Amino acid sequence: MYLIGGSASTALAERISRELENAPFGLPFQKRFPDGEMYVRIGDSLAGADAVIVQSTRTDADLVELLLLKDAAREAGARRVFTVVPYFAYARQDRRFYPGEPVSARAVANVVELGSDAVVTVELHSPLTLGAFSKPIYEVSGIPALARLLAQRQVDLIVSPDKGGVARVERMAKLLDKPWIQLAKHRIDSDHVELSLGAADREKVRGARVAIVDDVISTGGTIVESAKLLARCGAASVAAACVHGLFLRDAFERIKAVTDGIYSTDTLVNPAEKASVAPDIAQILRQHAAGP
Ligand code: R5P
Repeated sequence: MYLIGGSASTALAERISRELENAPFGLPFQKRFPDGEMYVRIGDSLAGADAVIVQSTRTDADLVELLLLKDAAREAGARRVFTVVPYFAYARQDRRFYPGEPVSARAVANVVELGSDAVVTVELHSPLTLGAFSKPIYEVSGIPALARLLAQRQVDLIVSPDKGGVARVERMAKLLDKPWIQLAKHRIDSDHVELSLGAADREKVRGARVAIVDDVISTGGTIVESAKLLARCGAASVAAACVHGLFLRDAFERIKAVTDGIYSTDTLVNPAEKASVAPDIAQILRQHAAGP
């Protein structure tokens, strides 16, 4: 395999290459044309190789770069192209909520799989998006990576900030052999949420070292309000853990002010990336490449 690191995922691509017994790793040359269009060039020949392109799609430009890299890999002679999208943007619009809207996750899935022999991604917002792919698609969970990290810290109780995250915290709780609870979240708008907790669960929080686990931290509103509620309920400490750390605007500082630790995986570059999904992605690539 030959690993190609897109500009949004260079460090993670290198980590994956190390996990794959130091598979060759390359960074494409990139520049912008005067009109703003992107240019990429893969320096090495990929003749007969399995090319693995690693590129999170945090921005729309990241997505365009991924499209160009896939095409460049074919042009460079790659036998197969495996596309790894650690953070798959647009995943939260996984259905049409109002008439006239797109199913954005499906639209993006269509272009991500184009020209790919297989796609690997990490912790999709919901499994609905998997159904949009016609090529082999592998979803790596980010929870084992976070569990490896939280296992080294003192955690008594795992908390999901909403109903949608229950499967995630159940998995974390099982890996750490700890109990879990779920908050009730009401989203007011993109930036504001309200959270509540029933009386029985409040008792579990009193004196406990809790870890809130979510798939994405975006504006930070969910984690900030969850942490404040848990502190009011008497938590001894509150940690915040997420798979994908976007940390928009001043989210990181706001969360830092109300928690005792912030932990994220390395699907996105951010100040909290302390757990790596590289071993989990490498394992999937190894299995798929060896398959029929
Ligand atoms: C929502 O369903 C997700 O699981 C996250 O809770 C949400 O995306 C976090 O967003 P924010 O940080 O803006 O509250």
